[in-house]
Amino acid sequence: MTFLFNSDPVRGQIFADAFAASLPDVAFSMDPATVDPDAVRYLLTWTVPKDLERYRNLEVLFSIGAGVDQFPLDQLPDSLQVVRMVEDGIVRMMQEYVTLSVLAVHRNLPAYLSQQQRAEWRILPVRQASERRVGVLGLGMLGTAVLDSLRPFGFPLLGWSRSPRSIDGVTCYSGTETLDTFLAQCDVLICLLPLTPETRGLLDARLFATLPAGASLVHVGRGPQLDQAALLAALDSGHLASAVLDVTDPEPLPPDHPLWSHPRVLITPHIASVTQPVTAAQAVIANIRRHQAGEAMVGRIDRQRGY
Ligand code: GLV
Repeated sequence: MTFLFNSDPVRGQIFADAFAASLPDVAFSMDPATVDPDAVRYLLTWTVPKDLERYRNLEVLFSIGAGVDQFPLDQLPDSLQVVRMVEDGIVRMMQEYVTLSVLAVHRNLPAYLSQQQRAEWRILPVRQASERRVGVLGLGMLGTAVLDSLRPFGFPLLGWSRSPRSIDGVTCYSGTETLDTFLAQCDVLICLLPLTPETRGLLDARLFATLPAGASLVHVGRGPQLDQAALLAALDSGHLASAVLDVTDPEPLPPDHPLWSHPRVLITPHIASVTQPVTAAQAVIANIRRHQAGEAMVGRIDRQRGY
């Protein structure tokens, strides 16, 4: 049985070494041209290859990234299991990026960066962490990890998810009917939702109006979840204080897009969290072992829900 790695060869070599050391009974290939298609049981890729039907015995499609919105889930064979990347490197990087961003907006960094451009030495009012409520949209593996790393700072913490969750020290809300109650308490809103038909365009004018005045957005979900014109309007009206965007639509934004030069927006090029090959190889190997033992794989996608 063969594992086909469809990504860059540098990362592939790290996977190849890990497979040779830990899973010698699974053949490892990086070359669709020479692999026996009937032997391929596992495929790791970012996008689905056009000739997927070639792999008649494929059992598991692994995404190389944390999301699976790039896969046409409704067009894949029912028998195929789809698994997203859940690995220590992605989790740690997301914890770092979101902590950095929350502290940046909490301590007025966007405004200070823009003052620095004008050589302006001006002290802005400061709020205590106990008075800055931080809410996370999406309480999966990453949302939960991010809340863990925010805990030591003393922000009141909230979370919202589609299905009920209970997290120590976090006021948790679930279901669409509680969304507005949650939003009305978020001085910093972090979007960590997967992209699905339900979350496309969710960060819109109505949502921004529901946030408390002076709130900030940290967007680390997917670009199409955000109505960028509505964000600009909410910033320019003064209702929102600032935004940190690691994802946009399109990526990159065109050079003349007003978000680039907005004085209260920080933009990074989709680098919040990136799959780390050493830890990712271990995570995939552990999942293959689970699969071979008939156990549930970590990060398995519910095709109906889309995440
Ligand atoms: C990045 O956004 C990923 O899906 O890993």
